[in-house]
Amino acid sequence: MSDDSSDRIARHLRSVAAEAEPGSRLPSTRALAARFGAGPVTVQRALAQLVAAGVVETRAGAGTFVRRRVAPSARLDMSWQTAALGPERTGSSAVGSTMRQIPHDTIAMHSGYPDLDLMPMREVRSAFGRITRGAGAGGRDQVFARPPTAGLPDLRRWFVDELDVDGWRDSDAVIASGGQAALAATFRALAAPGDPIVMESPTYWGAIAAARQAGLVIVPVPRTGGAPAAADLDEVFATTGAKVLYAQPNFANPTGDVWNAAQRDDVLAVVGGHRAFVIEDDWAHDFALDIAPRPLACSDTDGHVIYIRSLTKSLSLTVRVAALLARGPARARIENALTVSDLYVAPVLQAVALDVVSRPAWRTHLQRLQRTLAARRDSLLGALAAGAPELDVARPPGGLNLWVSLPTHRADGSPIDADLVAARTLARGLSISPGREWFPTEPTGPFIRLNYAAASPDRYDEAVSILRAAVLDGTM
Ligand SMILES: Cc1ncc(COP(=O)(O)O)c(C=O)c1O
Repeated sequence: MSDDSSDRIARHLRSVAAEAEPGSRLPSTRALAARFGAGPVTVQRALAQLVAAGVVETRAGAGTFVRRRVAPSARLDMSWQTAALGPERTGSSAVGSTMRQIPHDTIAMHSGYPDLDLMPMREVRSAFGRITRGAGAGGRDQVFARPPTAGLPDLRRWFVDELDVDGWRDSDAVIASGGQAALAATFRALAAPGDPIVMESPTYWGAIAAARQAGLVIVPVPRTGGAPAAADLDEVFATTGAKVLYAQPNFANPTGDVWNAAQRDDVLAVVGGHRAFVIEDDWAHDFALDIAPRPLACSDTDGHVIYIRSLTKSLSLTVRVAALLARGPARARIENALTVSDLYVAPVLQAVALDVVSRPAWRTHLQRLQRTLAARRDSLLGALAAGAPELDVARPPGGLNLWVSLPTHRADGSPIDADLVAARTLARGLSISPGREWFPTEPTGPFIRLNYAAASPDRYDEAVSILRAAVLDGTM
């Protein structure tokens, strides 16, 4: 029977459901089939449409019922919750605009994730097939049994091998469901509510939010020449008694900065001198475009560096697998924190990640990804230079983003507010991330972050013209 018939039945059932009391039973499949002269499969297809639309619900063995729903217009009184909940730790705007869902024709330069076209979709699909058939890299039983809380041994070994340095053991790695979960667990494990945590400023909004949610007090240090200056770091560790620094030495999000060799040595010396930890968020490991700096973790000999690397942005947004490498009692505490929140990461996802990264196609994918990203970065820089020369933007040697410094004032003397600029561009079909979200305290000027990995390059010129108008024409 054709789709037309199931649509006709679905239309009929919609009108029946609209008239009926919530909870009332719909006619049986057999009755509907007889009434419409259709087969049971056609009726089931119609019912599936209505279930998906939330109009009806099926209860096994009992039949299909009109769903009980709260009318969208009904006003529920939740005001009591305001008093019951009290102050909010993370702040009402804790989740960055990078997680915003946008209409599909809006130009997406806010997102933190690459376009699906840049992901190894075919390889991930095949891996899911192999894994669920029990034919993947991890073997048949690994996927259906409960994995060790620290993760599948072969996947942990892969992450450690990737560091390509002696001194780290497979047992140092713990698998987490994404970099964000790893960060949040590390903050909870290494600091107690009220403790200070040092962060570069600006830095990743998700780290700011996770620290606040853990009740930590963020102590910002500026980047001077791309990295925290040793003297600044020394001072904040000494005055606050902080034991933890969160940092992105390579291709920092949002600025794209990379610490040079001397800066790395300096930071490690200060951290070691204060018997502190540095949490290295190597989020852009797979997006090294012009240079491929080694992680700070490669230089750690005595447990000061906690290293986090995620595959979410380079392997699959739906697989979300990351690893955290740490040593000593700190590692045990972090694994405990992850186990308490998640117990373990779904073994199917771990096995898919392992299967994909273990094949030669993974290297080919990374090369293609890096070539495409470099071309997109340069093309967006070119569009900005041609279409909005007033904006000040550096060329990041890796990562997914341009960090743009806006002029502070327009020609008529009116101040430029990056939040307003972002609101204006959104209204005109361009979604960007305002700089404020990336500063743990007050922004040092009007900035915006533009992602070059999600939007199609053929819309870059349009994006730049919307942006320029929003920046320079305050009345738009
Ligand atoms: C700097 C940084 N760290 C961590 C994360 C979180 O990564 P994941 O998506 O693997 O949780 C992100 C995601 O945007 C990020 O930008």
